Amino acid sequence: MSASGTETDLVTGAFSYSGSRIAELLMDSGREVRTLTNHADRDHPLRARVHALPYRFEDPDSLAASLEGIATLYNTYWVRFERGRTTFTSAVDNSRALFEAARRAGVARIVHVSIANPSTDSPLPYYRGKALVEQALAAAGVPYAIVRPTFVFGGGSDVLANNIAWILRRMPLFVVPGDGRYLVQPIHVDDLARICLQAARGRRDVILDAAGPDTMSFEELVRAIRDAVGQRTPILHAPPAAMAAFARALGLVVRDVVLTADEIRGLTAGLLTSHQPALGQISFLEWLNENGPTLGRAYANELARHFRMSETPAPS
Ligand SMILES: NC(=O)c1ccc[n+]([C@@H]2O[C@H](COP(=O)([O-])OP(=O)(O)OC[C@H]3O[C@@H](n4cnc5c(N)ncnc54)[C@H](OP(=O)(O)O)[C@@H]3O)[C@@H](O)[C@H]2O)c1
Repeated sequence: MSASGTETDLVTGAFSYSGSRIAELLMDSGREVRTLTNHADRDHPLRARVHALPYRFEDPDSLAASLEGIATLYNTYWVRFERGRTTFTSAVDNSRALFEAARRAGVARIVHVSIANPSTDSPLPYYRGKALVEQALAAAGVPYAIVRPTFVFGGGSDVLANNIAWILRRMPLFVVPGDGRYLVQPIHVDDLARICLQAARGRRDVILDAAGPDTMSFEELVRAIRDAVGQRTPILHAPPAAMAAFARALGLVVRDVVLTADEIRGLTAGLLTSHQPALGQISFLEWLNENGPTLGRAYANELARHFRMSETPAPS
C-alpha cells in the first residue's frame, strides 16, 4: 500500500502490449501501478503514471525488493522466440525467479498470463515452456490465477492481425499454410485485461482460457482481414514448410522474425482456440469492420520491440 493508502499492483511489461492495457484498467479503478520492464525509458503514454524498474532476474534480492508492498502481481513476461542468449529455458528460469521473489515479498496473489493449450508434452518449445512456467507458479506457494489467451488483437500494438493486414496491403500474394481450415479464436486485448482483473479478485487458484466470441478457420480470418483493408490480394495455399521459407524471406526484407516454423505448427494444429465457453465479448469481425482502414498500414516489428536496443527503423 502506498503512503496515500492506495493499493499498488505490479504489472510486468506495462509499456508493452497486454501489460499496458492491464495497467491502464488498474489505474482507472483507482489503484497504483509499478512495472518491471527492459524498456523503462520507452516513450509510452503510461510512462509518467507508472513507476518503472528494470527486470533483475539474476539478482533475487533486488527482484524481491521491487515487489515489496505489491498486492497483486500481473505477469505478462515471456519471449516469442529464441534468439542469441534469449532462450525458452532462460525465460522459464526467469519466470520461476519472479514467482519466488513475489513469495519472498509477500505478494498476495499472482495473475499469470499464459497461453491456450500449453503442454509439457508439446513438441513446440514455446508451449512446453509455458506449461513449465505454469508448474513453477503452482509450486511457488502464492495464490494464483492463470489466464490462457488464444491470440490477442486490438489496442494498436497487436502483431499477428496487423502484420497479416500489412502483407495483404503490400505483397503480391498471401500464402496460407496447409488447407487453412484449422480454427482460430482471437481475443481482444481489452477483454484479456478485464479477465485478468476479474481473476485477481478470487481467492482460489484458477486456470481459465481467454478466448473471444468469434471462432473461424484461419483462411476465413485472412479473407475477413483482406476485405476489411479493401484489397484483392490472391490467397494461395502452400505446405507449412514452404510458408516458413516464405516467412523467412519476408523477414529479411522487414528485418524481423515474421512467423517461426514452430508458430506455423501451432497455428496449423489448431492451438489458437479454446475448448471452454468464450469469456471475451468483443467480436473480432466487428472490430475488423471498424479498424480495417488503419490496420496494417505500418508493420509491427518484434525484433525492434524486444531485441534491438538501438532501433534502426525497418521498412514500414
Ligand atoms: N500477443 C499474443 O497474441 C499472445 C497470445 C497468447 C498468449 N500470449 C501471452 O501473453 C503474454 C503477454 O504477451 P504480449 O504480447 O502482451 O507480450 P509483450 O507485451 O510483447 O511482452 C510482455 C513482457 O515480456 C517482455 N519481453 C517480451 N519479449 C522479450 C524478449 N525477447 N526478451 C526479454 N523480455 C521480453 C516485455 O519486455 P518490455 O517490457 O521490455 O517490453 C514485457 O515486459 C505472454 O506471456 C504471451 O506468451 C500472447
